[in-house]
Amino acid sequence: MKGKLVTFEGCEGVGKSTQLKQLQAYLEKTGQKALFTREPGGNAISEQIRAVILNPENKEMSPICEALLYAAARAQLVEKVIQPALERGELVICDRFVDSSVAYQGGARGLGAETVIAINDYALKGLKPDLTVFIDLPPERSFRSRTKALSLEDRFENENQEFHKKVYEGYIRAAELSQGRIVKVEPCADKAQTTAKIINLLRQKGIIV
Ligand code: TYD
Repeated sequence: MKGKLVTFEGCEGVGKSTQLKQLQAYLEKTGQKALFTREPGGNAISEQIRAVILNPENKEMSPICEALLYAAARAQLVEKVIQPALERGELVICDRFVDSSVAYQGGARGLGAETVIAINDYALKGLKPDLTVFIDLPPERSFRSRTKALSLEDRFENENQEFHKKVYEGYIRAAELSQGRIVKVEPCADKAQTTAKIINLLRQKGIIV
């Protein structure tokens, strides 16, 4: 039996990491096995590529270079971690995946959704997630921007509000092109309620019990 790939997406500060932790806790509590991984990174080579991409000193990186580095890191992660787990029949849950590239490089950096999808189809040999949970919160309503100032730890957190607005629009475009694969989940102020929505969605889709 072939496993399933579920990816999580969203703009900065929407509570994606918290929701992933909650989902992991739920799966552990109910004895359901899943492999959690993240992008960019998730294995030694991809982590090195991640460090190059996110290094705040690499201000001169061109959008195409950036998109190809993300695709390279993703290709390695798929080949070494995700594909083998899917072949073992496992559930794989990935924090960010190809739709981050569609939104950030395609939308915000201006390469266009179709170009980024084409690069990634090649890099991933056509692998697509079975389901993508998009935590749908526009940047002006992001929890983090209301509660604490953005840190300046990586090149993306340094970008301005206009950039993050374009990222959001890029996600909306990705959702339109996804033929129902990307499902929007609006987060609630109560984090536990958001978790419940996500768990219900995964149950409805027959991915978890
Ligand atoms: P990370 O610290 O993992 O951010 P987060 O906690 O928000 O997921 O940094 C990843 C950054 O890289 C994030 O700002 C989004 C960006 N990114 C892209 O621009 N394109 C991509 O394909 C991926 C996977 C991430």
